[in-house]
Amino acid sequence: MNFISVVVFSIVIHGSWSEEQLKFPPSFMFGAASAAYQVEGGWNVSDKGLSMWDKILHDRPELVANRNNGDVACDSYHLWRRDIEMCEELGLNMYRFSISWSRLLPSGFPNHISEDGKNYYNNLIDGLLEKGIQPLVTMNHFDLPMSLQDLGGWANPLIADWFADYAEVVFSLYADRVKYWLTINEAYIQCDGGYHMEAAPFFEDMKLGRYLCNKNVLIAHAKAYRIYDEQYRYKYHGKVSLSTLFFWFKPFTPEDQEVTDLTIEHWEGRYAHAIFSKEGGWPRKLEKLLNDNAKKEGYWHPRLPPFTPEEIELVRGTYDFYALNHYTTRLVRRVNPGEPPGKWFFEGSDELNTVMFKDPSWPSTPVYWFSVYPPGLREQLNWLNATYDVKEIIITENGVPSLDPGLVDTQRLEYYRDYLEQVLLAINDGVNVTGYTAWTLMDNFEWLSGYIAKFGLYAVDFSDPNRTRTPRESARYYSSVIRSRMIHPPQDKTKLNYV
Ligand code: NOJ
Repeated sequence: MNFISVVVFSIVIHGSWSEEQLKFPPSFMFGAASAAYQVEGGWNVSDKGLSMWDKILHDRPELVANRNNGDVACDSYHLWRRDIEMCEELGLNMYRFSISWSRLLPSGFPNHISEDGKNYYNNLIDGLLEKGIQPLVTMNHFDLPMSLQDLGGWANPLIADWFADYAEVVFSLYADRVKYWLTINEAYIQCDGGYHMEAAPFFEDMKLGRYLCNKNVLIAHAKAYRIYDEQYRYKYHGKVSLSTLFFWFKPFTPEDQEVTDLTIEHWEGRYAHAIFSKEGGWPRKLEKLLNDNAKKEGYWHPRLPPFTPEEIELVRGTYDFYALNHYTTRLVRRVNPGEPPGKWFFEGSDELNTVMFKDPSWPSTPVYWFSVYPPGLREQLNWLNATYDVKEIIITENGVPSLDPGLVDTQRLEYYRDYLEQVLLAINDGVNVTGYTAWTLMDNFEWLSGYIAKFGLYAVDFSDPNRTRTPRESARYYSSVIRSRMIHPPQDKTKLNYV
């Protein structure tokens, strides 16, 4: 099918469907994703150390809706066999999960490797591989060991070496079987959210903390990548990257293109330019703007901590694919005279003097930061393809929240259908998207929203000690797409292979 016919088809997408259309390439990997703190529970089993989420939510439960925490979560620590079974039911090719640093290295350092932690992930990896499901492993998904947070966490430059040590242990244990690696999940949320009271460590330091964290995350990632490159690649031929959260941004009017480009640099470029661009380092225009801001505010040091030439070389090119977490899109405009910029980063930026908002014509969801604009994903994939020298893109998160715990989740089913359609359109545009891991396999601990916001293909009964998992309509739909490698009309249930 050529590009024109895909476009024409997409226009009539809710009309007549043809079996021959919208077929994913045979090698395309369908998956689902999760993360340790959100699903595992078992916070104090055996010799596990505390992560910063464990400790901070025990001390300050009021930070999260209903004072929820991840102490038990989905109890995947005990129920991992059921998780694998669900992956199998769905027909997944890939399962993305994360390793809890403090489960594997209770002190945060390799002086002691937990036997229990080691076995837990061995079992999970082996269990998935037995079913023919590729593990895609994230090394750190927000849950830094508290011992390291006590030493300054991601704001301390030494974290890069601590992370590299941890990565070396992880590779030495699992790289013989794991072929897809993500070092760090959504550095944007870790740094910009972690220093804006949105994520652990729950600091408010938008002028310094978030930018120190920003640079340290990049160096940490690069050191881990280099370890794989030098010691493991020749034996195991795996792939390593980091995952970025990247909302797509569109200008409100054509005059807002410049601030929109800067917004993209502020969200995306700060975490990707150093790795994926040819020149490396910070995005130049943004660097100048932020450093000028710092100077005007009386700071003696640049806002974006400078890279040395050696650091630029260390970080540049440390990727084997691009890992994109995409959820939604925002319109951006410059503030009008006298208008305050958006205070919070989903609403704009005081550094860039912008406001951001959702187009009222885009369907909303029950979660305030989220509206549905499927073409944003295709636009973003094309932008990535044109901007960086990326040979392969894997969408490592995409999904939609609901508040309804029920099994009939029409909005989610339609979200997957419409966003997967955009993935196909992007593939037909020439973007090499090779995989997609839906967020998320099952309802889980959704950070500040606790267990209220639900993203699961499977519903989890959190009042049941067995944490029973039940497939939703969206799971049945997704499974039918995976099995047929096509997007069927959801109303045509005869075509769905229900799990
Ligand atoms: C991205 C994060 O990686 C994940 O942990 C979170 O649950 C989803 N976004 C949904 O908010």
